[in-house]
Amino acid sequence: MQVHIRRSNDTDLQAICNTVSAAFDESEHEEKEIANLVLDLLADPTTKPFLSLVAFAEETIVGYILFTKVHIMNSGQDVSASILAPLAVKPVYQNMGIGSLLVNEGIKQLKDMGFELVFVLGHPTYYPKFGFIPAGKEGFEAPYSISQEHADAWMVKELKPGTIENTSGKVKCADTLNEPKYW
Ligand SMILES: CC(C)(COP(=O)(O)OP(=O)(O)OC[C@H]1O[C@@H](n2cnc3c(N)ncnc32)[C@H](O)[C@@H]1OP(=O)(O)O)[C@@H](O)C(=O)NCCC(=O)NCCS
Repeated sequence: MQVHIRRSNDTDLQAICNTVSAAFDESEHEEKEIANLVLDLLADPTTKPFLSLVAFAEETIVGYILFTKVHIMNSGQDVSASILAPLAVKPVYQNMGIGSLLVNEGIKQLKDMGFELVFVLGHPTYYPKFGFIPAGKEGFEAPYSISQEHADAWMVKELKPGTIENTSGKVKCADTLNEPKYW
């Protein structure tokens, strides 16, 4: 199966929502919280510059990844950083490497865009294979406190060597993502 990763456009929105809802198991009748989050993030001017990528296979969108801008407060430096949320692959296409393709392509394009750090709050056994490490231990505070039990889910990856060593502070997300319910 051929999988093609490309930037999303406005005509992809419905397929992106379907993909995200299927991956996060949002039923047809309940409120589509994650799909709505994506739509809100794409319309939120404080997320810019964002990176929105779709995985296309068998003439349909089967995976999605979004990175949006964050600010590191009190760092004393102007570090360009982003956060990955969400990542989704349609259930029947999972475990075929599509999530990995999206993360790796996203990291490559973020580097090209000049980003120096990327954060994620996610599965602590999934993201380390892409070079993410626990962010709290490196001095990066999440927007809202994360319980000790889930501390390893808050992760960071360096895109420009030396950035982690020289940066610390509290991360502030775009307005849409800076809601306690997402943390
Ligand atoms: C997580 C997700 C994006 C992975 O996509 P994918 O295309 O299946 O991933 P890949 O094929 O690249 O990688 C598969 C590997 O990820 C692992 N994996 C899948 N879901 C995982 C999870 N929730 N936690 C830890 N590892 C996970 C698989 O066990 C597999 O491991 P292996 O390579 O050692 O066999 C996909 O399962 C998904 O959409 N899940 C529902 C939504 C979600 O949880 N999104 C991530 C939020 S942080």
